[in-house]
Amino acid sequence: MRALTWHGRGDIRCDTVPDPKIEHERDAIIKVTSCAICGSDLHLMGGFVPTMESGDILGHECMGEVVEVGRGNTALKPGDRVVVPFTICCGECRQCKWGNWSCCERTNPNGAMQAQQYGYPLAGLFGYSHITGGYAGGQAEYIRVPYADVGPLKILEEITDEQVLFLSDILPTAYMAAENCGLKGGETVAIWGAGPVGLLAIRCAFLLGAGRVISIDTVPERLAMAREAGAETLDYADGGDLHQHILELTKGAGPDAVIEAVGLESHGATTAQSIASTVMSKTVSLERPFALNQAILSCRPAGTISMPGVFAGQVGPIAMGALMQKGLTLRTGQTHMLRYMKPLLEHIQAGRIDATGIITHRATLEDGPNLYDLFREKKDGCVKVVLKP
Ligand SMILES: NC(=O)c1ccc[n+]([C@@H]2O[C@H](COP(=O)([O-])OP(=O)(O)OC[C@H]3O[C@@H](n4cnc5c(N)ncnc54)[C@H](O)[C@@H]3O)[C@@H](O)[C@H]2O)c1
Ligand SMILES: [Zn+2]
Ligand SMILES: [Zn+2]
Repeated sequence: MRALTWHGRGDIRCDTVPDPKIEHERDAIIKVTSCAICGSDLHLMGGFVPTMESGDILGHECMGEVVEVGRGNTALKPGDRVVVPFTICCGECRQCKWGNWSCCERTNPNGAMQAQQYGYPLAGLFGYSHITGGYAGGQAEYIRVPYADVGPLKILEEITDEQVLFLSDILPTAYMAAENCGLKGGETVAIWGAGPVGLLAIRCAFLLGAGRVISIDTVPERLAMAREAGAETLDYADGGDLHQHILELTKGAGPDAVIEAVGLESHGATTAQSIASTVMSKTVSLERPFALNQAILSCRPAGTISMPGVFAGQVGPIAMGALMQKGLTLRTGQTHMLRYMKPLLEHIQAGRIDATGIITHRATLEDGPNLYDLFREKKDGCVKVVLKP
């Protein structure tokens, strides 16, 4: 089959690879009908996530048709149409029972390696390096889904792929990010990053009762999309003082909650910061906390920081003093997908959420490497890429 594969920093290819096979009785093989490129894939492309190996199949946002199931899988049958969550969950361990699905204790065969870095093993992830299990990803014609009696969400025929594809990752991620703000109604939420996650977080924050949303980025097309979603916008790189702009917009009160939807590759606002960031990530392998620090600074005292943005290892200096002194609450994590997929499907069916507006590029798997470049460079107005294998 054809699949997008990783061959080192910046080197993504469309290769011919062996078809996946059932390896365990709970598995299913899915013929992928749609898949997407995520901001998290850019961290792999950028070489920031250790334990990638040449030839690894990428992709963790996909959906399709079940073509084969293992003997022990009674939840699915060939012909079922499913969205596959990016986390792999056993459904039986204590973390799965608690609903902390991304902390599943059993699905990462390389959990010992992960425990060396994080203290404990966490859920296996599709297409996201060997430390998260080394599972082949879904930017491919077919994908093997382990524990497929737990994760995949069945979809009725009358909904299009594009309406539900983002249930595989970014819509639940944006929703959990907004939920982690602990909104009661009427609050002001500031969101760093107007990429796919930030843009969907605007919709989710309003759905959960935010009174105002301020979206912060520098890419004009993304800021325009944020305004279409109802947010006020600020350009973090316009040469001004971002914190002052936020204070002015909020009459000195500051946002009640902030969402960091940028992650480890955040850019500095000034040339000096940008140079420092390149030096940090290329020489001492430190991840970049510019957006996080700005969010910590601008959050009002006793407010909440929700951080869906991905960090993987050691990060450059964090404004820990401001975090502690202001009594901020920090909530983060890989998304607990199975908490959100079904309720969000209902929101989609009822027309309360529509995530399709962020799709700017549709292409084949063969075009994938080119679209990785476009998405990373934010060229041609690229915000979200959907690939049809
Ligand atoms: N927690 C999870 O389960 C989960 C799931 C999906 C994605 N993510 C993460 O969410 C983050 C966003 O994903 P995405 O797909 O939207 O990525 P993206 O790369 O398309 O978007 C990031 C945006 O941040 C902007 N940005 C860069 N520096 C900034 C700064 N200093 N201030 C404000 N904006 C800045 C960029 O211009 C870009 O528009 C990534 O880190 C991704 O890995 C997490
Ligand atoms: Zn993702
Ligand atoms: Zn589990």
